[in-house]
Amino acid sequence: MAKPNRSAFIVIEGLDRSGKSTQAQILHERLTNAKTPVELIKFPDRTTAIGKMIDSYLRSESELDDRAIHLLFTANRWELASHITTLLASGTTVIADRYAFSGIAFSARKGLPYEWCRGPDVGLPAPDLTLFLNIEPAVARARGGYGEERYEREEVQRGVRELFEKIGREMQTEGSSWVQVDAGKGKDEVAEDIWGAVEPLIGSCDSPIGRLWD
Ligand code: TMP
Ligand code: MG
Repeated sequence: MAKPNRSAFIVIEGLDRSGKSTQAQILHERLTNAKTPVELIKFPDRTTAIGKMIDSYLRSESELDDRAIHLLFTANRWELASHITTLLASGTTVIADRYAFSGIAFSARKGLPYEWCRGPDVGLPAPDLTLFLNIEPAVARARGGYGEERYEREEVQRGVRELFEKIGREMQTEGSSWVQVDAGKGKDEVAEDIWGAVEPLIGSCDSPIGRLWD
């Protein structure tokens, strides 16, 4: 058997409070315990210069045109794109907590044209697997911490969820690996479902890293 020439790129997506960050952390630990080199990346990455502008916008400390903030979110992914491909090529599994799908869903929800939203993300490193943590917006709202940032409102999340579902259908139609996980279940059960989807990918990626929608 040919030796895999790179590691897997796994994206975790979902609504606010769907448990993405918790599950990304659990998956990171599980892979680390299995002696698989792994790096967890979070989008938006609020530590960069662009990320600081995004952070200020999300906390409602600044206002930006809808298209301008959309492009900043995308630029925040592009500034890490070569880091991601370098990690994958060197055998480190990459987990991204949110990615381009959040970018499209949250901006298109505001009424920006869907194709316009997708354009700047075309060509980014393509995930080998996207796990969509699906949750009822009312259940998400009942979890702690809701309402602190822009977008953390049930009515916004409802619209975003519909767009995530549209993106998921399109990804599946084009043969990309988009797996829906019931995030309303308990933490351990969700972690098991995620592991079931991730485990077969570890050590088995032997095609070159793809480019999103290219
Ligand atoms: P976070 O809560 O995961 O840190 O994400 C912050 C918010 O930013 C969340 O409501 C989703 C939103 N978002 C976008 O609007 N566009 C994007 O491209 C990303 C990555 C997140
Ligand atoms: Mg949030």
